Amino acid sequence: MSNIQTYISENKERFLNELIELLKIPSISADSAYKNDVLNTADAIKSSLLKAGCDTVEICETDGYPIVYGEKIINPNLPTVLVYGHYDVQPPDPLDLWDSPPFEPVIKATELHPEGAIFARGACDDKGQMYMHVKALEYMTAHDELPCNVKFMIEGEEEVGSENLGVFVKANKEKLQNDVILISDTGMIANDVPSITTGLRGLSYVEVEVTGPNRDLHSGLYGGAVANPINILTKMIASLHDENNHITIPGFYDKVENLSDEERAEMAKAPFSLEKYKNALDIDAVYGEEGYTTNERNSIRPTLDVNGVWGGYIGEGAKTVIASKAYAKISMRLVPNQDWEEITQLFKTHFESIAPKAVKVKVTPHHGGQGYVTPIDSIGYKAASKAYEHTFGKTPIPQRSGGSIPIVSLFEQELKSKTILMGFGLDSDAIHSPNEHFGIWNYLKGIETIPHFYKHFVELKNK
Ligand code: BES
Ligand code: MN
Ligand code: MN
Repeated sequence: MSNIQTYISENKERFLNELIELLKIPSISADSAYKNDVLNTADAIKSSLLKAGCDTVEICETDGYPIVYGEKIINPNLPTVLVYGHYDVQPPDPLDLWDSPPFEPVIKATELHPEGAIFARGACDDKGQMYMHVKALEYMTAHDELPCNVKFMIEGEEEVGSENLGVFVKANKEKLQNDVILISDTGMIANDVPSITTGLRGLSYVEVEVTGPNRDLHSGLYGGAVANPINILTKMIASLHDENNHITIPGFYDKVENLSDEERAEMAKAPFSLEKYKNALDIDAVYGEEGYTTNERNSIRPTLDVNGVWGGYIGEGAKTVIASKAYAKISMRLVPNQDWEEITQLFKTHFESIAPKAVKVKVTPHHGGQGYVTPIDSIGYKAASKAYEHTFGKTPIPQRSGGSIPIVSLFEQELKSKTILMGFGLDSDAIHSPNEHFGIWNYLKGIETIPHFYKHFVELKNK
């Protein structure tokens, strides 16, 4: 398989240009103004899969954006790899914080990507990482090196909760039958410290509305005598953490799995510099739950964060007003064993119970999903590990991530197969932020590593 390196160096420019074309389409699933762009992206994925060697590719309609499903079945008796990815992207705002327009990709070198990185919304999350699989398939089919069957399922609603994908998976279990699911939609520790993601956090996302008086009031005439919903909401939010930054919702931690001292010691071995972490974020100190390290806080511990809060007057100058309503969007990152629907209910009950009589509270659940952990003794993990050993010259470190891909636990539940998370992004690639980028080295390294995964997976499976 040394051919893959030659193939990459001969086709590097084209691989980059094809990705750049894909990144130019603003496939923002959250904003209906971009509907046609999202649909056009699905078409573009379809033709790229056909060109790469899939026998059939379908655009599967859903109640939302379509799922692109393609397959190449070389022999029904051989194992099957199911590749999942998403072609939708996060909204790019705030736009003025981008150094170049989010849908006009440019290549620039950075400290961590001296060989250049592609700057565009979706470069890393997930168009760039998803497209590595398309190019790896192209290589394998062109060189007769595809050792098993492959199915691709690329959705357009990951960034808005994957609800229709859940319906699709439940309705198509036979079609999606596989031996392992392969996803590149996470990250790794550093380019010289490869790691494989072994866990994802779950999520419960809710919106809250606090209503005081039935209309906005003069803050002089009424101030002090009626509840101000913004004052009340912020007070309620503040009470959700105690002085040790533990979450105060009764029952919230009941099902949290506590790691053994050995497991925590193992985790602490992963290279990490608190100084570099603080410098990269321009902060003087980290902040979080008492008794846990930074890497524990952002992976094995659950959290509660306000993602947005609004209400009242925010225009130019001053307006003396007590708003009638105040709002917040709140996410809770969950760990395996915590049930997201149960946590949503606990939140709702608690939040309603702490509201003073002077206001009305409405809690609206948005979406959520379960966390996920994958064992490191599975064939899939071992095959991934061997693949990285080949292309990075190092054994990858298993690492639990703080992010969420809620559909992964549904895959396990419905399709009964394990997911291997081969992510090639870096935390500093700014996914969901202005100036998102993906290292060219990472992109090509991903394309190089994926065929090795297939080879080792089939070999281990046949043992
Ligand atoms: N690819 C990310 C998740 C991710 C990134 C996991 C890096 C691990 C490391 C995915 O696209 C994402 O953004 N997920 C959302 C949840 C979704 C329901 C909107 C998230 O984690 O906020
Ligand atoms: Mn993603
Ligand atoms: Mn994302």
